[in-house]
Amino acid sequence: MYLDMFSNRSPRLRSLAIIFGFAVLTLAGNGYSAEREGSGSGPRYIQFSQVGDPAEVLEVKLDVSRPVEPGEIRVDVLASPIHPSNLLQISGSYGTAAKLPSIPGSEGIGRVVETSAEVTGVSVGQLVLLTGGGTWRDEMVGPANQFIPLPNFGAQTPELIEQLSMTAVNPLSALLMLTTFVNLTEGDWIVHSAANSAVGGYITQLAKQRGIKTINVVRREGLVDDLMSKGATVVLIDGPDLAERIANAAGKQPVALAIDAVGGETFSRLAQSLGNGGTLVSYGVLSGKPASFNPAVAVFNDIRIRGFWLSKWFERAGMEEKQAAFGQIIPLIASGSLKANIDSRFTVSEIKQAVTRAAQRGRNGKVLIVPDHQ
Ligand SMILES: NC(=O)c1ccc[n+]([C@@H]2O[C@H](COP(=O)([O-])OP(=O)(O)OC[C@H]3O[C@@H](n4cnc5c(N)ncnc54)[C@H](OP(=O)(O)O)[C@@H]3O)[C@@H](O)[C@H]2O)c1
Repeated sequence: MYLDMFSNRSPRLRSLAIIFGFAVLTLAGNGYSAEREGSGSGPRYIQFSQVGDPAEVLEVKLDVSRPVEPGEIRVDVLASPIHPSNLLQISGSYGTAAKLPSIPGSEGIGRVVETSAEVTGVSVGQLVLLTGGGTWRDEMVGPANQFIPLPNFGAQTPELIEQLSMTAVNPLSALLMLTTFVNLTEGDWIVHSAANSAVGGYITQLAKQRGIKTINVVRREGLVDDLMSKGATVVLIDGPDLAERIANAAGKQPVALAIDAVGGETFSRLAQSLGNGGTLVSYGVLSGKPASFNPAVAVFNDIRIRGFWLSKWFERAGMEEKQAAFGQIIPLIASGSLKANIDSRFTVSEIKQAVTRAAQRGRNGKVLIVPDHQ
């Protein structure tokens, strides 16, 4: 069934293959200038003019709802997630600085409400993925080719729309980290940290679909049922003896791949847990701490340390590679085979509560920005 879904014979995949050549990823955009700021009851957007605590520096602004120009479409934003990277960039701690003033938001989903005469291939009522940054707002107006039109998946339930709003960042990262660093085969063991994050959940689900066994490392109790329901083989709570417990969990099998979003001691413990020739992929530093790494582990176990940054992949990957990656992810999300938990929903006007919640420990999933009427 898994292969059938991605078969080249599938008309759904063929249509996805046509539309994913131009996907880009930006954490924030600055498409609205101060001159265009509106008043009264226009569409709202979030802006920051200085870096700092997101709950303090983010402002709700009113836009002027302008007419669509030739080649443009108007889209009502239906959902846009808050990612750790968004909060880091607003606070000035990310790998790239935002050009100020800036509208945050890396991705989302919207519905086309107006098209200009010249636009083809996308129609009013169609769902589109939002790319190019600046997605925390009520409405986007821009060239049609900046949006990714989605095929008709049948019933457009609120749940499906919310899940699709998180397509372009985390599921893609999970897929690429699982498939591009190590040639894993059925029965292989991997370990990953922050396993209850959205990326972690996607890694677990994608691994399970491939018959790969996952050791899911988290920092707190109470997550076993959720992770097991996603297909986890083992769930472990991080601690000083983590490497030993990972080895015990995998039995006599070597761990081929470790995927780390935490850094600090977790990074070091995952490196120690790898089998000979194993690879550790680092993709986040949630602890904010540098890691110490015993070179003896590299010498005697031939460990490879790699980094992953989706932004670089978007820059580097060609059209076919992007089509293949999106073409795998979207049908899985559409069919309900790939999901992330959703903790809470806030409107654009509630942005301060939204970012405050997104920064809290112990959330049960993603925080989404949604329209007022949901
Ligand atoms: N390199 C890339 O291209 C790339 C792409 C996508 C995401 N990322 C990174 O991946 C990480 C996860 O992103 P996400 O969107 O999936 O996150 P998320 O769903 O918003 O959740 C963050 C999770 O991290 C956990 N966490 C926070 N600090 C932790 C720590 N010190 N130790 C262990 N767990 C910790 C939280 O657990 P609790 O429930 O215990 O609070 C929470 O489950 C972030 O660092 C993000 O920047 C990187």
